[in-house]
Amino acid sequence: MEQLQVQGAQSLTGAITVSGAKNAALPLICAGLMTDETLTLTNMPDLSDTRLMADLMVNHGLAVQFDDQVMTLGGAATEFDAPYDLVSKMRASILVLGPLVARYGEARVSLPGGCAIGSRPVDLHIKAMQSLGAIVELADGYIQARAPEGLTGGDISFATVSVGATENAVMAACLAAGTSTIHNAAQEPEISDLCECLIAMGAQISGHGTSTIIIEGVTALHGATHEVVADRIEAGSFIIGAAMTGGTLRLRKARLDHLTALQEVLVKVGVTLESGESETGEPFINVKAPAAIKAVDVETAPYPGFPTDLQAQYMALMSVADGTARISETIFENRFMHVPELVRMGADITIEGGVAIVTGKASLQGAPVRATDLRASISLVLAAMAASGTTTISEIYHLDRGYAQLEARLKTCGAHLVRC
Ligand code: EPZ
Repeated sequence: MEQLQVQGAQSLTGAITVSGAKNAALPLICAGLMTDETLTLTNMPDLSDTRLMADLMVNHGLAVQFDDQVMTLGGAATEFDAPYDLVSKMRASILVLGPLVARYGEARVSLPGGCAIGSRPVDLHIKAMQSLGAIVELADGYIQARAPEGLTGGDISFATVSVGATENAVMAACLAAGTSTIHNAAQEPEISDLCECLIAMGAQISGHGTSTIIIEGVTALHGATHEVVADRIEAGSFIIGAAMTGGTLRLRKARLDHLTALQEVLVKVGVTLESGESETGEPFINVKAPAAIKAVDVETAPYPGFPTDLQAQYMALMSVADGTARISETIFENRFMHVPELVRMGADITIEGGVAIVTGKASLQGAPVRATDLRASISLVLAAMAASGTTTISEIYHLDRGYAQLEARLKTCGAHLVRC
C-alpha cells in the first residue's frame, strides 16, 4: 500500500494553480448522457474519480476521450445499468439516474451503499424522480426507474438540502415535459456550474444558485463546450495550509466569491485574504499567514455556509491556534475520523456528539497516521507540513481521488513529500 512521507516545519509559499472542481466535474460528465452530440469539458481535473466516472460513461455506451484536461463525451447510451462494482467505488455514480431516466425512460442503478463519512442514503434522489412521474422500485440492491411515456415536469421539494439529489433533479427536469420547480435546492457553485453547462446545451433553467430552481423542459439537448469551475474546496485547503505553515501563497484561478464563509471565519482567525485578476483576466487569491492564529468556532452548513468539505482542514488549523474552538459538523454523522489521526500528532481534540472541541498547541509532532477519507487526507498533509519531524501517511489513495498532481504542486511551494 502506498504511503506519503511528509517532512515537517515546511511553509507553503509560492504560487499554486487550482484545478477544476471534482464536485462539478462528476455531474458534468453525467450530463454527457443527455445528448448524442459531443459534450466537451475543459479544465477537467485528472483524478481517479473523474477517470472512474469516464469509465462508467463507457459502460453506458458513450465514446469518451480524456487527455490534457479535456474530456469529450459523444454518442448515445446503449446500456442503462450502473453496476454495483462501479457504483460501490464512487457514490457519485448515482448521478446517472436523472439523465438516463429523462433521456431513455429507464435506469437501473445499484444502491451506492454507505461510505466512511456516513450512511448517505439516496431517498431524496428517488423522491425527485417520482415527483417527475418516474416509477421507481428497489430490488436486488438496485434502483429501477422507468418513465415509458417520458417525465412530466412538477414540483420537487427537498426536506433536506442535498447537492446530489438537486443535480439529479435538475438534469431529469431538463427533458421533462412542462415546468419543474425545485424547492430547498442546494446552492453550491458546482450546481450553478452544471446548470450553466446544461443551458449551453439548450436547457432552460433559472434560479440556480438560489434555493428555488425553475426548469422549462425541452425535447432535446445538443452538444456544447464547457469549462469546469475552479475547485473552491481545493483552494480552501491550500489557503488553510499556507495559514498554518507560516506561508505566503498565490492561488491562481481560485474564486474568492465562492469562499465567503471561509473568508469570514479566517478574518476572525487573523488570516486576511485578498483577491484580484491577472493581466489575462484570471482570478487569484493571495494569502499570508498571520503572526498568531486565533481559535474561532465553526459550524458546517449547506452553501453558502461553511463547507463540510473544509471541516477537517479547518480542524488541523485550529490544532495549532491560540485557544479553544468548537467545530460542529451538521451535514454528515461520522465526519470526524481525522480526529484520532490528528491526536496521534499531538493535537488536543475531544468529541461531544457532533462537536469537536479543539484546544490549540504550539506545534504538532510528526507520526505515522492513516488517511480515512478524501478531505481528512489533505488535512493530515497540511498538519504534517506544520508539525515538527516527519509524518508517514498510509492509505493515500483517498488523496488521489480529489487532488490532481498534489505532490508536484505542493513541492513547487516548499513541501518535502515522498510517495513510497
Ligand atoms: C456532495 O455529496 C459532495 N460530493 C460531497 O463531497 C459533499 O460533502 C456533500 O455534497 C455536501 O456538500 C459530490 O458532489 C460528488 P448531499 P452528496 O446529498 O451529494 C443526506 C467530497 O469530499 N442525504 O448534499 O452525496 C446525506 O446523508 C465529498 O468531495 C439524504 O438524507 O451530499 C447528508 O447527510 C464528500 N438523502 C446530507 O443529506 C439523500 O437522498 C447532505 O448530503 C441524499 C442525501
